[in-house]
Amino acid sequence: MPAGGRNMLKFAPFTTLLLLILAPSLLAEKSKCDVCKDMTKHFMEHFNKTKGHNFGGGNTAWEEKSLGTYATSETRLVEIQEKTAKKCDYKCGSLLEDQEEFLEEWFFKRQDKTDLFEELCVDHLKRCCLENRWGTDCKECPGGVVSPCSGKGRCLGEGSRDVDKQAGTCQCNNGYNGTLCDSCRDRYVRVGEDCEECSKLCKSQKCTAPGPKGCVECRMGYEMLEETGCTDINECEREGMGCGDPLENCVNSAGSYECVCKKDYKRVDGKCQLEDLYASEDEEDEPTEGAETKEIESKDEGDGKLPDEGSEEGDDFESDDYEEVIEPEKSGDVEPKISVDDSINYSETEASGKDEL
Ligand SMILES: *[C@@H]1O[C@H](CO)[C@@H](O)[C@H](O)[C@H]1NC(C)=O
Ligand SMILES: *[C@@H]1O[C@H](CO)[C@@H](O)[C@H](O)[C@H]1NC(C)=O
Ligand SMILES: *[C@@H]1O[C@H](CO)[C@@H](O)[C@H](O)[C@H]1NC(C)=O
Repeated sequence: MPAGGRNMLKFAPFTTLLLLILAPSLLAEKSKCDVCKDMTKHFMEHFNKTKGHNFGGGNTAWEEKSLGTYATSETRLVEIQEKTAKKCDYKCGSLLEDQEEFLEEWFFKRQDKTDLFEELCVDHLKRCCLENRWGTDCKECPGGVVSPCSGKGRCLGEGSRDVDKQAGTCQCNNGYNGTLCDSCRDRYVRVGEDCEECSKLCKSQKCTAPGPKGCVECRMGYEMLEETGCTDINECEREGMGCGDPLENCVNSAGSYECVCKKDYKRVDGKCQLEDLYASEDEEDEPTEGAETKEIESKDEGDGKLPDEGSEEGDDFESDDYEEVIEPEKSGDVEPKISVDDSINYSETEASGKDEL
């Protein structure tokens, strides 16, 4: 058994203990409104299930006459109450018992007229609010009950009379900002009703439209082209750029490039020199990282790191987070296998506009 498996077994009793301690406190977190909501939900489930049922043997005229119709019969109520009690946890069960009279009254007199949840949990017990209302007085959520938070966020504490300090405020979806979620966050741009993320190829991710064409300015190592927007500069093919040493191969990468020593050459004191074949024998398997490669640092925003175009980092991307660098093959011994086309592969995905940048 691997060490990890043994550790897990060792800790299993502890985890179980932890769960036993935590479980009741997790249940305790259920708000009074949630308890009432649960109870009425279970009750209504069984109410719905028994709709159209009869006394079992088929409603004979005799049964109807002596017992009343099944729909409003004691028999049906008892059945619903029993099934609800089975589904209920402790608090839900107590509430079911406490509200027995209220439930009876609703069942016999108003089952076709009012909504049980609304009547019991909202109006009678005052534990809940109707949808998109919050707090002791069931105030409307920001932006109104029809489309609170501009439809771009969640109204916290909605539906409950419990008040915590965030209740009645909007928690905006990714990319949205403002008390009504009606503005776009930094690095997002408005497109109709929505906010879309600026391309990661934009400098400081300011843009006028999504995609690399919408950038106000391009990141270091990229240039604005009419057709594709911000596009990687192939420094290796630019005059006056790339690598000067004829013993080096120039390897372009997204936003940058590298100078790699040609086959049989190694970087010593910054220069490519013919390798000592004897010395290289034991080094061959583990070439020292960076020893043969001279990396050209991008001066943009200090870190010189660039987004990996293939990655879908999604929503919580921050511009300071460029951690994935497209690394060309780092070996002075072998001719780099990366072709220029491979390393600028991203531009296709960018141009398609479907990427997450
Ligand atoms: C019961 O039925 C009504 C109407 O058919 C429906 O709106 C409601 O969601 C159902 N409730 C449950 C808990 O199944
Ligand atoms: C959200 O808006 C506030 C005020 O309008 C602003 O100070 C803040 O920087 C914005 N946040 C983001 C992430 O855009
Ligand atoms: C381009 O990138 C895609 C996904 O990022 C990959 O599947 C494909 O093989 C790449 N094409 C080339 C020519 O490298």
